[in-house]
Amino acid sequence: MSNDPFAQLKAIQREGWSLFAPLEAVTTTTAAVLVKHACIRANQVVLDVGCGTGVGAVTAARVGAKVCALDLSPVLIEHGRQHAALAGVEIDFTEGDVEALPYGDSTFDVVISQFGHMFAPRPDVTTAEMLRVLKPGGTLAFSTWPPEHYVGQMFALVGKFVPPPPGAAAPPQWGDPNIIRQRLGDAVTDIVFDRSVMVFPALSPQHYRKGIEETLGPVVKLVATFQDEPAKLAAFRAELDSFVSRYFENNMVRQHYLMTRATKK
Ligand SMILES: C[S@@+](CC[C@H](N)C(=O)[O-])C[C@H]1O[C@@H](n2cnc3c(N)ncnc32)[C@H](O)[C@@H]1O
Repeated sequence: MSNDPFAQLKAIQREGWSLFAPLEAVTTTTAAVLVKHACIRANQVVLDVGCGTGVGAVTAARVGAKVCALDLSPVLIEHGRQHAALAGVEIDFTEGDVEALPYGDSTFDVVISQFGHMFAPRPDVTTAEMLRVLKPGGTLAFSTWPPEHYVGQMFALVGKFVPPPPGAAAPPQWGDPNIIRQRLGDAVTDIVFDRSVMVFPALSPQHYRKGIEETLGPVVKLVATFQDEPAKLAAFRAELDSFVSRYFENNMVRQHYLMTRATKK
């Protein structure tokens, strides 16, 4: 990663995302939806990129697929290994970066990413890598948070308080079908979009906020950055609480997301 202009960002991300494990309670169910959306079948060779604790990888392996899974965070990968052992499935977990995948060309029948590859700073590099390791005729499928819905807007709020390094793409751009079409371009055919909603249980907007301050990488980092600037932290918290209130109902925060599926030419 030494020639990588975003090496420092990725080191920060690796640290920030390491606390994500409790949020698998929310992404476990959406992983099953993505595995269905990707039409994963037994004996297919599958890669889960930005696998976190392996929720997508384990789900695909339980369908009978032969699964590799990759993530920046060794801490999350360790959780993934434990989940795989508990489920009695074999998964080849690797610590790595979606912008430099350690797999040969045309290796996989299916590449999935659930809210993972969207956090890599260079969409052109990410797209090229995910398509490179996919076989011609293979399926690329991912779930992403759109810019116009709650999670996308929450990341925009975080970016307002802690701007990303110059040149890093905003993650929720990966939730815009027009941008996805441009990024995948002529390399794919048969693009299909679907939308769904995930729900995050919480007792109040403040309870929700406390939860993500302890688990969601970019928010964890923001809180650490403003440790000695209580006024800024208070301003962020006030904006977030008022914003979350709009999506909070029946002790749940509603989080709309987009699923994409495409076939590599
Ligand atoms: C929101 S979490 C999703 C985790 C998991 N896919 C799930 O659905 O529970 C985002 C994940 O992307 C990983 N990630 C972020 N940037 C990455 C990169 N450049 N390469 C590989 N993984 C990355 C993080 O470490 C984190 O595990």
